[in-house]
Amino acid sequence: MDLYLRLIKFALPYKTRLILAMAFMSLCSGAQSLSAYLVKPVMDYIFVNKDMTKLYIIPGAVVLLFLIKGIFEYLQGYFIGYVGQRVVTDIRELVFRSMQKQPLSFFDKTPTGSNISRIVNDTALIQSTVSDSVAAILKDILSIIGLIAVAIHMEWKLSLIAFVVLPFSIYPIVTFGKRLRKIGFNLQRYIARLTSFLHETITGQRIVKAFSMEEYENKRFVVENETLFRIVMKRTRIRALSHPVMEVIGGVAIGAVILYGGREVILGNSTPGTFFSFMTSLIMLYEPIKKLNKENHNIQQGLAASQRVFELIDRKPEVQEKPDARNLENVQGVIDFSNVSFRYDDKMVLNNINLRIEKNEILAVVGKSGVGKTTLVNLIPRFYDITSGRLEVDGNDIHDITLDSLRRNIALVTQDVILFNDTIRSNIAYGVEPDEERLFEATRMAFAHDFILKLPKGYDTVAGEKGVRLSGGQKQRIAIARALYKNAPILILDEATSSLDAQSEIEVQKAFENLMKGRTTIIIAHRLSTIINAHRIIVLDKGAIVQEGTHTSLMEQEGPYRKLYEIQFKAGARKKVIPIGKKVS
Ligand SMILES: Nc1ncnc2c1ncn2[C@@H]1O[C@H](COP(=O)(O)OP(=O)(O)OP(=O)(O)O)[C@@H](O)[C@H]1O
Ligand SMILES: [Mg+2]
Repeated sequence: MDLYLRLIKFALPYKTRLILAMAFMSLCSGAQSLSAYLVKPVMDYIFVNKDMTKLYIIPGAVVLLFLIKGIFEYLQGYFIGYVGQRVVTDIRELVFRSMQKQPLSFFDKTPTGSNISRIVNDTALIQSTVSDSVAAILKDILSIIGLIAVAIHMEWKLSLIAFVVLPFSIYPIVTFGKRLRKIGFNLQRYIARLTSFLHETITGQRIVKAFSMEEYENKRFVVENETLFRIVMKRTRIRALSHPVMEVIGGVAIGAVILYGGREVILGNSTPGTFFSFMTSLIMLYEPIKKLNKENHNIQQGLAASQRVFELIDRKPEVQEKPDARNLENVQGVIDFSNVSFRYDDKMVLNNINLRIEKNEILAVVGKSGVGKTTLVNLIPRFYDITSGRLEVDGNDIHDITLDSLRRNIALVTQDVILFNDTIRSNIAYGVEPDEERLFEATRMAFAHDFILKLPKGYDTVAGEKGVRLSGGQKQRIAIARALYKNAPILILDEATSSLDAQSEIEVQKAFENLMKGRTTIIIAHRLSTIINAHRIIVLDKGAIVQEGTHTSLMEQEGPYRKLYEIQFKAGARKKVIPIGKKVS
């Protein structure tokens, strides 16, 4: 019931059209009932009394009636269709907005395909419910009322039979409907699963092929596909059963009516016209009841889908803005972690981190893979909320400032580069009006300008799905240009140069050096060349900062940094010409 009410609430803004639709619908049903009523004069005047003048009037009335009914039906269909489509468009927007509000942890947990399925498949089902089924049901109910009125008017005693039978035909509608709703919910969930499976195998095709796993994936798909078949068959069984059950009930009613009504006509208590008019309304009554049953199936499915959609709309994001959050202004870029701990659901990653990063400082974060470097920097823009402790930017607890103003002041180059299916220009000036001069400056600094110009349409080349048409290093340079273009006081570079060759890395490095002036920068890197000039280096291990200092001071100590250097940096360092290398060895 709540679901119904909620769906109806979405239609309220369009109430004028809704009222118009309902008005035309009632007129339409009225016309339909009238056509059942017309059977009486046809029978009695034309067939029984053989009245010639009526022969010319009544057919004209029939044609007129159907014409009027047709016009009403068109208007009704248009208005209800409008309301239905509007409602679904609004719902789709709402789900998308709610999804955008969710923190990264939500996307870690829900497969992409499942989210896509909610926005595409589930809303499509709601659409068919709202615009087609609800309209049809309203119309059917009005028709039923009208036809019953005609029936009562013709033969109230006979109508009693219809009233006795009606509840019997409603019963299967309700019970089958309930079961269908449950199946519908499972079905939608399953379709979401199938969509995620498809999403994974499609985006992962390169790996599937590299490991010759096509057959394995085929088998997995067969399992999923067959399960879907079984769920759909459950639905089919109920749908197939409900129709004959209603036919039988209808047959019993008609049989009883012929028996009683025929007797009344033979005994002279009633005219054939009255009887046939009554029969027509009864037979016509069967149609909307049958449709009611079918539409009920669709509605149940739509409600099941809306349940899934509302689940997402109602989801409270874990990372939320306080109602009285302030805007962060004139950012200096002082970042202060005090006793910060962080855990992903069940996994402790950072433990009591104390770290103050000063204005204009360049801080390098090093440590073994999986130690929590990316996690540490993800806490600053509140991609994830800290589990305990306090995290400040310029002395403001980051929970007290608006997410927008916080994030606007942070430029980020992430470990895995995402380019949108849009032009290179819009990818770099993401979300802002591109300013040609600044754009070129950013791409030149990121050593991207030259290769972009060589692309088929230069800056207007579309980066393609997930940026496939560009090499890893090219994508990375575009991501760097994007961060440079953002020109924010806090800069975070997470393995930003890992895909570049030695030469470009050295060059981009120079660009960074210019860029880092006057900004607070955090660099995560596996390569020595990137961190050697940092003001300060911290070494993360087992969720804690185990060492800190400059490259030179850390190399003088026996400790994890030197070990990392020995096993990780040195190999890379040897390949490149690093001026400081002499001093180190
Ligand atoms: N979204 C997540 N949900 C749950 N656990 C995660 C998530 N992301 C990372 N982890 C876990 O947290 C730990 C730290 O991951 P993180 O990505 O911060 O490491 P990292 O130091 O950046 O590693 P790398 O150098 O390989 O990039 C890892 O052990 C990882 O398994
Ligand atoms: Mg990382």
